[in-house]
Amino acid sequence: MTASVFVGTSVDGFIARQNGDLDWLPTGGGEPHGYDEFIASVDTIVIGRKTFETVLTFGAWPYGDKRVVVLSGHSVDLSAARGGIVEQMGGPPAEIVAKLAASGAHHVYVDGGITIQRFLRAGLIDRLVITRVPVLIGEGVPLFGSLPHDVRLRHVATRSYPSGLVQSEYEVVAA
Ligand SMILES: NC(=O)c1ccc[n+]([C@@H]2O[C@H](COP(=O)([O-])OP(=O)(O)OC[C@H]3O[C@@H](n4cnc5c(N)ncnc54)[C@H](OP(=O)(O)O)[C@@H]3O)[C@@H](O)[C@H]2O)c1
Repeated sequence: MTASVFVGTSVDGFIARQNGDLDWLPTGGGEPHGYDEFIASVDTIVIGRKTFETVLTFGAWPYGDKRVVVLSGHSVDLSAARGGIVEQMGGPPAEIVAKLAASGAHHVYVDGGITIQRFLRAGLIDRLVITRVPVLIGEGVPLFGSLPHDVRLRHVATRSYPSGLVQSEYEVVAA
């Protein structure tokens, strides 16, 4: 099973404003930058509870009929995800990954700052695709956080787009 991150950040490394606002991201995701191809390659989406709450404000459920796993340590009302295939899990990332692998997941999309950080700390992310949006927002929800040790990355490619998006793809080098 492979676990990937595909995320948009400000140049100063934030994925949302402190209050969760995403108003600094280009409307509608901006110009095509590989998201459609990426999401088509994924069979399971793992999101943190806070990202789930944000997604519910979008109106239409954005993940179609993909299996979505919402992580929380509390009981989450999943009924608002109308039309979605949604379940809840929680606990150490290694246990979550083991459950997903045992239930047939092949390519997992891990999303949400805290969620990504916990998976990275546990050595469970294989690939990072980070799209930098040309803006500094000063403060907000960080993509990265503390780590127990360095995580070595292999640079796969960096692509730039006319609107100013700069996307870098990395493989996490096995420890
Ligand atoms: N720019 C982008 O591409 C992008 C992408 C994704 C999200 N975002 C934004 O980022 C913000 C959310 O990020 P965030 O870092 O605040 O939070 P998050 O990762 O979405 O959610 C954090 C919550 O997820 C739960 N959680 C995570 N790992 C868990 C585990 N292993 N076991 C049990 N529960 C677990 C916990 O919920 P409980 O507190 O309920 O226990 C935790 O408080 C939102 O504003 C969202 O819109 C931006």
